Amino acid sequence: MELLKQKIKEVGIVVNDDVIKLDAILNHAVDPVLTTAMGKEFARLYREENVTKIMTIESSGIPIAFAAAQELNVPMVFARRKKTLNTDTETYCERVPSFTKGMVTDIMVSREFLSETDRVVLIDDFIANGDAARGLIRIIRRSGATLLGLGIAVEKSFQAGGRTIRESGIRVESLVKIASLSGGSIEFE
Ligand code: G4P
Ligand code: NA
Ligand code: NA
Repeated sequence: MELLKQKIKEVGIVVNDDVIKLDAILNHAVDPVLTTAMGKEFARLYREENVTKIMTIESSGIPIAFAAAQELNVPMVFARRKKTLNTDTETYCERVPSFTKGMVTDIMVSREFLSETDRVVLIDDFIANGDAARGLIRIIRRSGATLLGLGIAVEKSFQAGGRTIRESGIRVESLVKIASLSGGSIEFE
């Protein structure tokens, strides 16, 4: 997606060889025009799949997931992060390690918002190692819902998340792929 690529070139700050800061458009501020365009693109990619629900994880996935849900005219549900594992039987909980943050978090989705008749697209801002996505994929599987695929704004293709999830047979659509951040410069695929 050319517009997203241009914005990343404009506002992206390479922190180190693994991490790019995109606070101005994804992780601290929201550009409504860009976010709406991303939602339209995700909707175009999954339009023929009879999507019934868009899912994401709080917090940075929420605006783009909302934009996609708006375009497809379906509800959006965001998994919540909890400090302690919720053993409540009314919720699906999964523990997710974070390579970037060096800690684990527990994500949860209330059973009332996900059913076996749902056809779900999972949206997120970044995919790095894919741990967050895999946690949500496990929740979707446990609910009996159909996972149609992933929609990711920025795939860091030098990290394994996108590739390994595709290899497991799941459709992964990324709006841009960053092949490298080495030496402080952003290289797109
Ligand atoms: P993974 O899920 O793909 O394995 O990624 P990882 O655990 O390494 O990522 C932890 C958090 O860092 C996630 O945000 C993820 O979106 C974000 N992240 C990963 N790589 C980058 C990067 O290069 N730049 C930026 N800006 N963020 C990155 P989160 O914990 O879900 O937080 P939130 O932003 O959704 O609140
Ligand atoms: Na995220
Ligand atoms: Na994030």
